[in-house]
Amino acid sequence: MYKILLREDLVPNIHLFKVAAPAVASKAQAGQFVVVRIDERGERIPLTIADWDREEGSVTIVFMEVGTTTARLALLKAGDAITDLVGPLGVPTHIEKFGTVVCVAGGVGTAPIAPIGRALKNAGNKIISILGARSKDLVFWEDKLRSFSNQLTVTTDDGTYGRKGVATEPLKELLESGEKIDLVVAIGPTVMMKFCAKTTQPFGVKTIVSLNPIMLDGTGMCGVCRVSVGGVTKFACVDGPDFDGHQVDWDLLSARQRIYLDEERRSFEQWQYQCGAD
Ligand SMILES: Cc1cc2nc3c(=O)[nH]c(=O)nc-3n(C[C@H](O)[C@H](O)[C@H](O)COP(=O)(O)OP(=O)(O)OC[C@H]3O[C@@H](n4cnc5c(N)ncnc54)[C@H](O)[C@@H]3O)c2cc1C
Ligand code: FES
Repeated sequence: MYKILLREDLVPNIHLFKVAAPAVASKAQAGQFVVVRIDERGERIPLTIADWDREEGSVTIVFMEVGTTTARLALLKAGDAITDLVGPLGVPTHIEKFGTVVCVAGGVGTAPIAPIGRALKNAGNKIISILGARSKDLVFWEDKLRSFSNQLTVTTDDGTYGRKGVATEPLKELLESGEKIDLVVAIGPTVMMKFCAKTTQPFGVKTIVSLNPIMLDGTGMCGVCRVSVGGVTKFACVDGPDFDGHQVDWDLLSARQRIYLDEERRSFEQWQYQCGAD
């Protein structure tokens, strides 16, 4: 069992758990994830390792409530335990001194980008960060991003905080400004990563995205996380989750993410009914 040492509600529907998991913490690297199962009958869901403390033997996960499992997870509190937490999984993000790196975080993608930005900064890069959220009350970890960024722009879709608009607008302006950008790392909703990649492509700036297809085992055995990158089939759990955004077949990814929408909706309705009935 994996004990929850700390719970924080970062924004109304995004929560942080610090979980005791010494073996995972001892090996975790930026860009890797864990597969979590709440209890013996729970489904497995992948969540990025947003931080870790090797001395304490803990890892931090940050999750957004989107369906049954994340809603069930959100009911747990400090002192409760999770049955399974397997990891670290996936290929760590490639870190080296590139020069100037733009980190674009969208929504809950702010959590996975934080350890990557920090590692890139420690490797000697200049970091320009863009944090995009729908609204002011959904912005979190601005201070964490600022701590490793030479420059940070916050955007909100509705203009309630920072600059009004979407994250790709300041990204495009940066590219047009003539400043030499050596790499862009974009993590967030699929549509946001797709448009970041489309924004950088004409400028020829390499763009790394962290793909989030449906996953089951997380070890390359079931094939459910199949994505197409540069016309080649890859398994996001063992070949990624980081890939070259200019090579990703975004339409296939979006279609595969929607395969179980009906089942997910029914499962969530059933769960809400059970909660109401209890
Ligand atoms: C490598 C990786 C890292 C991730 N890291 C985070 C993270 O740090 N924080 C976070 O909030 N979310 C993260 N996700 C997404 C998270 O796994 C899903 O939101 C979660 O599985 C949804 O489960 P649910 O039962 O609550 O919702 P469901 O009702 O099952 O699904 C709601 C939505 O989530 C997607 N989804 C469902 N099951 C999975 C699955 N097993 N894997 C991926 N997507 C799924 C569906 O396409 C659907 O759009 C990550 C996904 C991947 C692949
Ligand atoms: S999740 Fe099963 S192969 Fe990737």
